[in-house]
Amino acid sequence: MKIFIDTANIGEIRKAAAMGLLDGVTTNPSLVAKEGKNFRQLLAEILEVVDGPISAEVVSTKTEEIIPEARDLAAIHPNIVVKIPLTKDGLAAVRTLSREGVKTNVTLCFSPTQALLAAKAGATYVSPFVGRLDDVSIDGMELIRRILTIYRNYGFTTEVLVASIRHPIHVLEAALAGAHAATIPFKVIEQLFRHPLTDIGLENFLRDWNSSQAKLV
Ligand code: E4P
Repeated sequence: MKIFIDTANIGEIRKAAAMGLLDGVTTNPSLVAKEGKNFRQLLAEILEVVDGPISAEVVSTKTEEIIPEARDLAAIHPNIVVKIPLTKDGLAAVRTLSREGVKTNVTLCFSPTQALLAAKAGATYVSPFVGRLDDVSIDGMELIRRILTIYRNYGFTTEVLVASIRHPIHVLEAALAGAHAATIPFKVIEQLFRHPLTDIGLENFLRDWNSSQAKLV
C-alpha cells in the first residue's frame, strides 16, 4: 500500500520524507489555507522534497472553469495530480482531463456508486473519506471494501486512495482491504511506528549489553 502524507505543512512533509517511507502527498484547500502561503510557492517547495504524486485541488466548481484550472496545475510538474470534487461538473472535467493525460484524484467520495462514476470518468485516484463517514455513524471502511470489489469486478484501473484517516486502525483496515494507497496525517504516521513492547525490548537489550563485558569489536 502506498503511503501518502495528508498535509500542506512543509515541515511535516520533510520529516515524513526523511523516514524514507513516503510515496506522495495530498493537500486540500483547508490544509493549504492553514499554511498561509502562496499555493504555487507551496507546491514548488513540496515538489522539491517528494518525488511522487502530489495532489493539488482545484477551487472552481463549474466544468468549464475546473478544466483550465486543472490544466494550469498539471502544467507545474508531471508529479502534480489534480484533485477534483466528486460532482457532476467535476466528473465531466475529469472525463476531458483524463483523455488529455492529466492525472486526477477525485475527492469527497462518500458512496460506492460515486466511486463507480469516478472510475468510469477515468480518474487516476478516488479518495473515499473514511473518518468523516465514521463521524456520522457510517462504517467508512465498508465503503473502501465495496469500492475495491466494484473496481475488481470490472477491472477499473482507478486507484483507491483512502482519505480522512484518523488513527492507525484505519491504516490497518485499509491495508487488509487491499487499498492501493492511504493518505495519512503526520501524527498518525508517527503513531504507526510505536509499540510499547518495542521500547521495553530495546531498553532491556541495551541495559543487558551495557552491564556486560560484551563489546562491538
Ligand atoms: C484528503 O484527500 C482529504 O482532503 C483529507 O484526508 C480529509 O481529511 P479530514 O476528514 O480529516 O479533513
